[in-house]
Amino acid sequence: MKMKYKTVLLLGLGMTLGLGIAKAENPASDSVAEEAKQSTATETAEYHYIPSEENLQAREHFRDQKFGIFLHWGLYSMLAQGEWYMNRGIDHEEYRKLAGGFYPSRFDAAEWVSAIKASGAKYICFTTRHHEGFSMWDTEFSDYNIVDATPFKRDVLKELAEECQKQGVGLHLYYSHLDWDREDYYPLGRTGRGTGRDHHGEWASYYAFMNHQIRELLTEYGPIGAIWFDGWWDHDQDSNFDWQLPEQYQMVHELQPACLIGNNHHQVPFEGEDIQIFERDLPGENTAGLSGQDISSLPLETCQTMNGMWGYKIADQDYKDTRTLIHYLVRAAGRNANLLLNIGPQPDGELPALALERLKEIGEWMEVYGSTLYGTRGGEVSPRDWGVMTRKGDKRYVHVLDLPDKGLFVPVTGMKVKRAKEFASGKPVRFKQDKEGVWLLFGKVPEEVDYVIELEIQ
Ligand code: GLC
Repeated sequence: MKMKYKTVLLLGLGMTLGLGIAKAENPASDSVAEEAKQSTATETAEYHYIPSEENLQAREHFRDQKFGIFLHWGLYSMLAQGEWYMNRGIDHEEYRKLAGGFYPSRFDAAEWVSAIKASGAKYICFTTRHHEGFSMWDTEFSDYNIVDATPFKRDVLKELAEECQKQGVGLHLYYSHLDWDREDYYPLGRTGRGTGRDHHGEWASYYAFMNHQIRELLTEYGPIGAIWFDGWWDHDQDSNFDWQLPEQYQMVHELQPACLIGNNHHQVPFEGEDIQIFERDLPGENTAGLSGQDISSLPLETCQTMNGMWGYKIADQDYKDTRTLIHYLVRAAGRNANLLLNIGPQPDGELPALALERLKEIGEWMEVYGSTLYGTRGGEVSPRDWGVMTRKGDKRYVHVLDLPDKGLFVPVTGMKVKRAKEFASGKPVRFKQDKEGVWLLFGKVPEEVDYVIELEIQ
């Protein structure tokens, strides 16, 4: 059954990607690579992406959501050393044997999604296939997947998708462009060189494989909020390399127009992308060295770890405290960005206890303060050391995160403040306004995680 699909893989490529009937009618061609390359060259030159109405609406919805949870889960979770362990020169044939022992007996999609939903997060982003090359769903296009290659035999993605639907949580899918296992991921990139791939296949077959998988993900798992690509940087040192993204992006947009495309390439967004992704930094900051790129006008998202690693790492119990995580979320919102906060589920299928604790505490905070973030946009005053501003309708929220003083000057101009109050208690806050801005007088040094002042604007 599965083999049958593999034989049509290459033949289907032309049709799948809308590369033109002539190519689809010529299945005998054995130089698919050549063909694909030529068509990319033409199509890239002509390609101009015009997002559909559904897509534009989905972007606004995405901006409103503000908070998502990233889940890095794969065979690497069993090794408990993070998701990059294979890159330490582990032979890919040996690595594949992990699948035979993968039995996450405690996995319960309903528990994951409930805990995530209770944190106030509006979507999850699940690693369907990470750099290790293992597919975490029942794919027809490789037997190296959670249903066919493990004793667990359950399609965890299907279970998650159903649970997300049921609980009203959005589902985004991480998909690695690079692959440390397959021989047709060739030429090799700058990572995964030590995994023992002595032979190599054809890029065209790998490209077709990816597109078939992506099509499957977008047709068998209900509405997908976003595809989160990663790995482009594997070829950032060979400028001739062509990932053939335009056709792939086109396919995604045709299959699900509302599905947003993001790519963790650490560049300004490419044609066809709908969101801009930052890694381990707030937009405009570059402490981790991955975020020097300009900020575009697309919806923004930044991903961050709760501890230090994306995939489960047994020795890393160094979780950021709840206050720090909330500050990150608020500072992201003030910069018009969503926070995609990561959890690395355990090999047994449970979310780590410390992660659950953080989710719960963030949720308690969101219960009270969520509406000062959801549906807002960054305020007129740019982010400051003391905190940020968000806005919605005639409300402005001043988020005071770090202030050693009993009062604060906020340089809002061009608007008249009618009322100021503590958001949580509703108690009025004294203020004085002149043409330079507004003085907020608290009468105390704020100690709250986030001292939110609501301004009503005339
Ligand atoms: C990097 C890492 C990858 C991780 C991703 C998440 O690209 O290579 O392991 O999944 O960041 O942001």
